[in-house]
Amino acid sequence: MTDGESLSLKSVSFRAGGNEILKKISLSFHPGQITAIIGPSGSGKSTLLKCLTTTVEPSDGKAFLGAQDLAEIKEDYRQKLGYVPQDDVLHRELSVESAFYYSARLRLDPDLTEVDIQIRIGVLAALLGLAERQSHKISKLSGGQRKRVNIGIELLADPAILILDEPASGLDPGTEEDLLKFLQILAEQGRTIVLTTHSMEFLDVADRIVLLMEGHMIFAGDLKNLLQHFGIVHIADVFKAIRENDAKHWARTFSESSLSACN
Ligand SMILES: Nc1ncnc2c1ncn2[C@@H]1O[C@H](COP(=O)(O)OP(=O)(O)OP(=O)(O)O)[C@@H](O)[C@H]1O
Ligand SMILES: [Mg+2]
Repeated sequence: MTDGESLSLKSVSFRAGGNEILKKISLSFHPGQITAIIGPSGSGKSTLLKCLTTTVEPSDGKAFLGAQDLAEIKEDYRQKLGYVPQDDVLHRELSVESAFYYSARLRLDPDLTEVDIQIRIGVLAALLGLAERQSHKISKLSGGQRKRVNIGIELLADPAILILDEPASGLDPGTEEDLLKFLQILAEQGRTIVLTTHSMEFLDVADRIVLLMEGHMIFAGDLKNLLQHFGIVHIADVFKAIRENDAKHWARTFSESSLSACN
């Protein structure tokens, strides 16, 4: 399932519409770990995931899997990758079970039997709280339910690298907690998991938190170090804390700290 190689960004910048949306980001993502990317709206989280998934190419710098440039191994890389974008790309006329079934047939080992596939779909649907919605058309689902269908479709293929853009959006806290615990199990099995989130509640499941502000990486490390670095007691206060200075200040403070050596 995993080849144990780390994903990394080396001095990645991304420019569009006359703006520098990501500014020289260098960062690695390791098998067995969940990295949560947080930051104010518009700080560049989705763009960073798009660079990591080869959805866009960096304007400067490169993304790697192990020592290989992602731009050169795109097709192979995408076989290993599950990517749930922020906006869903589902065929809304399909039922949940058909969407799962087609995805399974397209992406799983062709030797798997119908029974194997049905079991897998059943387990995932139950896990994602969609068991009772399997026969429903996707167009009739709520936003949070559609998000879970998207996540299920990517999980079906059992990817070694799973990148999720706001998987918790539209989920109630109970479902969010279940999902994050499940992602934690997937990470423990050796997968590389990267997600973005606006929800601060379950950040303790992340092995590492990356904080973006105006395209700058202003922190990367664990929750304890984050609280210490910004002098706060609760993670919920981090956005208030960073507003007290500008992004360049925080980026400099972080790069001068001993924490930045651990990226
Ligand atoms: N292709 C593009 N062309 C021009 N500007 C872009 C493009 N893609 C993103 N942006 C801009 O880059 C900035 C970062 O966008 P991005 O979607 O990465 O933010 P985000 O942190 O994911 O925000 P949110 O939390 O709202 O999802 C925004 O100001 C956005 O308008
Ligand atoms: Mg986004």
